[in-house]
Amino acid sequence: MRDTLSIEVKVNGIDRSIEVPVHHTLLDVLREEVGLTGTKECCVVGECGACTVIVDGRPINSCLMLAVEVDGAEVTTVEGLAAEDGRLNPLQEAFLDKGAPQCGFCIPGQLMSAQALLDKKPNPTVDDVHEGLAGNLCRCAGYQQITAAVLAAAEVERQ
Ligand code: FES
Ligand code: FES
Repeated sequence: MRDTLSIEVKVNGIDRSIEVPVHHTLLDVLREEVGLTGTKECCVVGECGACTVIVDGRPINSCLMLAVEVDGAEVTTVEGLAAEDGRLNPLQEAFLDKGAPQCGFCIPGQLMSAQALLDKKPNPTVDDVHEGLAGNLCRCAGYQQITAAVLAAAEVERQ
């Protein structure tokens, strides 16, 4: 049996061909092979959401997905949210404006779940935001600020 497989994946708009150990998760590969350490490693059992990335439009826990499963897919990580010149996107700006980042550890995952929600539902209700981010835990309990930020970003994007 082979220990590694070659996968083709688009990460933050860049096509990549990566040789991945078959037992490595998408989280392992993003952080260790691709060098994108914005995606955080925390519980590694699908409980906290810190490792959330967007795969083909859906937010997923990258600690639960094998890297070989994203062969042919499009992956967006937190590094892919800002513009090429480094300008933050409206969601990132809103997180800062509303004081959502406390220690900051959960924020990349929160941003990715929130972005996936806004991409699907540009006019979310408070309940939509709670539901969309239900899988993302914040040990600093910044939930009110995070919800306010997502709603504010939605408003900006609609203007
Ligand atoms: S690190 Fe993946 S859900 Fe916690
Ligand atoms: S800001 Fe600290 S865990 Fe969420």
